Amino acid sequence: MIVLGIESSCDDTGVALVENGQTILGGARASQEKVHAQYGGIVPEVACRMHYETLLPLVQKVCAASGKTLADVDAIAVTNQPGLVGSLYVGLSAAKALAWALQKPLVTVDHIEAHIYAAHLADPDLDYPHVSVVVSGGHTDIFLSTGPTEHALITRTLDDAAGECFDKVAALLGIGYPGGPAVQATSLGGNREAVAYPRGDAGPEGLQISFSGLKTAVLNDLRKRGFVVEAAKNAGRLITARAPETPVPASETRTLSVRLPLADIAASFQEAAVDILVRATLAATRKARCRSVVLCGGVAANKRLREVMAAACKAQKNTHFMAAPLNLCTDNAEMIAGLGFHKLVTGQISGLDADVLPNKDEKRQKAGTA
Ligand code: KG4
Ligand code: ZN
Repeated sequence: MIVLGIESSCDDTGVALVENGQTILGGARASQEKVHAQYGGIVPEVACRMHYETLLPLVQKVCAASGKTLADVDAIAVTNQPGLVGSLYVGLSAAKALAWALQKPLVTVDHIEAHIYAAHLADPDLDYPHVSVVVSGGHTDIFLSTGPTEHALITRTLDDAAGECFDKVAALLGIGYPGGPAVQATSLGGNREAVAYPRGDAGPEGLQISFSGLKTAVLNDLRKRGFVVEAAKNAGRLITARAPETPVPASETRTLSVRLPLADIAASFQEAAVDILVRATLAATRKARCRSVVLCGGVAANKRLREVMAAACKAQKNTHFMAAPLNLCTDNAEMIAGLGFHKLVTGQISGLDADVLPNKDEKRQKAGTA
């Protein structure tokens, strides 16, 4: 059975064809990164319009590239939660229209569950239960997963998501958007112990996660080094460090003095963020009495996080560790089609009245599952 997957919950448009929930026949992504980078963050209306322009041409492209037509498709799977409301509506509307026109089942998929499923897509032998660590731009959630759609929350961030923290710190340092890859690249060769950024209070069970203190610590560190931090003129949200004596060019908001030890700051920040995530993950495995960990979501692409998490799991009772493959960490439609297949064969089909659920805490039952 071939499932057409559609992903448009945030700023990436994704389309994929996956056979029997396992074999990727084709897939493509249209990234909006460059457009949103001008604003220092995602502008929801811009995201929505770009999905609207891109989605159906991308469906045509993926079908053509994989030698399939829409007649070969057995079901349409689409992300309907959580995410940006307008962006979700673009994907769901297109999926409904395709399902209706082709007279094929519609399957709505939870984006977070799909991120976790990305690991199963890569390794069909991966077994349940496992502790799932979902780290992305919008989420830092740790679950005990007992099935593809059965995830009990163990802990989640009290404030910023991990990816959001990488993005904000990268904006502070003026090194680009999205921040995760920029921090990773900047940290190369840097001293991870140069600055002892705080890891925050882990709480009595070690499960507490917070990233806002870390972000503030980087900001205070920049101030201490004599850098002023100014609100960008063009966005209002982007803040950039700049040496006080540096003249401010009219249109430029990203000038950085060479005196700022960027590599050290990036490496030290990254190490603190990694430590926070690893500490909470290990605590979660102890609490759930589970010796298997799956790392997924955009931040799971971080090389240092994968490395430290793998070593920490091994050291804790030889806990099995698996990270989603790099190409399936950030948002993609392969994971949507993969989980869509599972829901299809277990009868979790949606009606044409399915709606979007933008907030992660809205009741998932409302998702239009017939
Ligand atoms: O899963 P994703 O593509 O979208 C959401 O569902 O949010 O995650 C995007 C996030 C961004 O915050 C980005 O900065 C972060 O993942 N990210 C990384 C890396 N690659 C992407 N963070 C740290 N290191 C990376 N290599
Ligand atoms: Zn995501």
